[in-house]
Amino acid sequence: MAKSTTTYVCQSCGSASPKWAGRCDNCGSWNSFVEEQAAVPVSGAKGQGLPKGKASRLVGLRGEEAAPPRIMTGIAELDRVAGGGFVPGSGVLIGGDPGIGKSTLLLQALASLARKGNRVVYISGEEAVAQVRLRAQRLGLDDAPVLLACETNASDILATLAEGGPPTIAVIDSIQTLWSPVIESAPGTVSQLKAGSEALIRFAKQKGCCVLLVGHVTKEGQIAGPKVIEHMVDTVLYFEGDRGHQYRILRAVKNRFGPTDEIGVFEMSDGGLREVSNPSRLFMGLEHRPTPGTAIFAGMEGTRPLLIEVQALVSPSPLGTPRRTAVGWDTSRLAMVLAVLEARAGIVIGPNDIYLNVAGGLKVREPAADLAVAAALLSSLTGTVIPHGTAIFGEIALSGNIRPVGQTEARLKEAQKLGLNRAVLAAQAEQMTDYRGLDVKPVETIADLVAWTAAQDRGLRRIV
Ligand SMILES: Nc1ncnc2c1ncn2[C@@H]1O[C@H](COP(=O)(O)OP(=O)(O)O)[C@@H](O)[C@H]1O
Ligand SMILES: [Mg+2]
Ligand SMILES: [Zn+2]
Repeated sequence: MAKSTTTYVCQSCGSASPKWAGRCDNCGSWNSFVEEQAAVPVSGAKGQGLPKGKASRLVGLRGEEAAPPRIMTGIAELDRVAGGGFVPGSGVLIGGDPGIGKSTLLLQALASLARKGNRVVYISGEEAVAQVRLRAQRLGLDDAPVLLACETNASDILATLAEGGPPTIAVIDSIQTLWSPVIESAPGTVSQLKAGSEALIRFAKQKGCCVLLVGHVTKEGQIAGPKVIEHMVDTVLYFEGDRGHQYRILRAVKNRFGPTDEIGVFEMSDGGLREVSNPSRLFMGLEHRPTPGTAIFAGMEGTRPLLIEVQALVSPSPLGTPRRTAVGWDTSRLAMVLAVLEARAGIVIGPNDIYLNVAGGLKVREPAADLAVAAALLSSLTGTVIPHGTAIFGEIALSGNIRPVGQTEARLKEAQKLGLNRAVLAAQAEQMTDYRGLDVKPVETIADLVAWTAAQDRGLRRIV
């Protein structure tokens, strides 16, 4: 027995409230509450609480469990982000902005699996058969034996998947179109999304197939976003990068079967998403000419070292409150670096407009980028060029000290591999590594960095 009650559910974070509100207290979204019917279970008799249960068998920690076999799509970047292939019996969410390439990549992955003899099913709720076929044709994949259906009703999807034996992988594109008649709310609402996804994930666990759920990241609150099902799936992958760039980064943000923060790098082309096997070359800038305001950060993304160009532009501000814009980096971290430069090295950048940009649409999360950001800012402020071939990394403490970061050797090796010949890094990190593939310039404090940058001046001045 279930009694229906009305609740208001925020479509961007899924939090429920008995009353409608203009703004969600939980996530801050405006106009995101939609009325939904929540099914409230009613216990058999009043006051009895939960029904009597059955005891589970308790077992020890040691067992003969084999590592789960993996489904390799053959697209190396995708397989790596998934933690070394997808796991049978798991649910995977692939989120991203509309148009970023989710359907394209998944169709490519399915086609590759189908060609290797796997039974793979693509369920599209957004596009008609003809549209999907056109895409397949455009990508040169129409000969692959991918099984296709256009369906939005969750029960019909489950029936379709069950027929003819469970597939190796099923793609549901997208969860926002899932819909079940037993739920009273409209398609696209949190309850519809949760109920449909839950049924599909249960199917995956029971039948041992892998279900990939596609979710659009939504800007307005009226359609529920992929966040609301993140906790239900085993693996969450998000596409990053804006549509203005042809580069796409797929990042694992949750993975029960592998490391998180692993990234896969793709390039959007006529033939679909192409793997980028040497992403450092990409994010470092293809024709990196030294200009004031650019610095190369030797970063780590998951297990992979990556060289990334950081660009800063410092220019006198006509405004009372100068502009601060950071693309691909945290604005509060930028404020901290500026404050440390001022307090510990007497460098006042504050009254200027400051623009910071990470090349290629990548989002950098590592504090290790502090030193490269500071160098780019100093370089733009003073017009001094940071010499070609210099990799920079290190975390800046509030005291102004430069702290060592993990994976020093991997970062240095990547820099050397890509033809760089110098690295600026924390003095402590330099003492800890024996790696001497390139010149190293140890810096102990932010003042050391300021001094080093000033010493690079070769008379090249910023043209204002
Ligand atoms: N018919 C087409 N011709 C050329 N490019 C297309 C076509 N359809 C889609 N694309 C390109 O592929 C990109 C990715 O599309 P898609 O995989 O459908 O994204 P998503 O599924 O994430 O919404 C689009 O932004 C567009 O640039
Ligand atoms: Mg799509
Ligand atoms: Zn919310």
